[in-house]
Amino acid sequence: MARIAYVDGRYLPLRAATVPVEDRGFQFADGIYEVVKRIGGRLIDADRHLARLRRSLAALRIDLPVSDAALHRIVKQTIARNALADALVYLQVSRGTAPRNHPFPADTRPSLVVTVRRLKLPTEAERQKGCAVITHPDERWARCDIKSTGLLANVLAKQAAQEAGCREAWLVASGPAGDVITEGSSTNAWIVDEHGVLRTHPATQRILGGVTRSVVLEQARELGIPLAERAFSPAELARAREAFLTSATSLVLPVTSVDGRPVANGMPGDTTRRLMDRYAAHCGLPAEPPVRG
Ligand code: PDD
Repeated sequence: MARIAYVDGRYLPLRAATVPVEDRGFQFADGIYEVVKRIGGRLIDADRHLARLRRSLAALRIDLPVSDAALHRIVKQTIARNALADALVYLQVSRGTAPRNHPFPADTRPSLVVTVRRLKLPTEAERQKGCAVITHPDERWARCDIKSTGLLANVLAKQAAQEAGCREAWLVASGPAGDVITEGSSTNAWIVDEHGVLRTHPATQRILGGVTRSVVLEQARELGIPLAERAFSPAELARAREAFLTSATSLVLPVTSVDGRPVANGMPGDTTRRLMDRYAAHCGLPAEPPVRG
């Protein structure tokens, strides 16, 4: 079945769905996006995603061109027209179309695009074995908290990871006390450090505050896991007991190798597995099977 996209008031076959050449999203990456998953007929954490969409828009002073209620209707319709039960919903808002000129145009209506695709979650084998990441310089701009469509540095980092046969690139930035891992190119980065403390970069302007990250932080607190929103260094990563990444599509996924070296014994750790199960339950997914001996 042909995929259907929503573009500024019209539902079109994806191949016929286009935006004008002078759309500022195309010209300047002057726009933002959100990615929400739907499992078992339920949009997971829709409120948090909508809140982040609103924060990103406010940071760029772009108005959402439709009401919240209309946006919900559009998302529902796009899902229905694609006849998908489990789906990944992509929303993009740009400042709109205007003759190319850097300052904000006057009276331009922002454009809204919604697309839907099949949801592809990590396989059981990926979850059981964990994934490999590389470290890579963080070459992004200074407002990574905005979910901007300007993703060139993320694209280059992900490409480097793929060329190294890895799932993700963990980005290394220099901080006041030396190098730190900020996050992945499209995921948040976590370790259980050598003292057993769960660590992830604080939600500053240097990372995207992941919706999955916010849920997992709450769940870790509920489980009584020692926790610090404090950046970790590449050296601390090398000494970590466990590592994992989070995102809407990766869920909680163990990281068992960094730059070709195993994390601890190279197997997903206990804290990671507890959080995988807890987050899976939050999404209405089954828990992990026990570790194979
Ligand atoms: N990526 N950090 C970055 C840079 C991201 O792009 C994402 C999401 C995350 C995790 O956020 P969340 O838990 O809300 O998915 C962290 C989306 C999925 C994407 O670009 O496709």
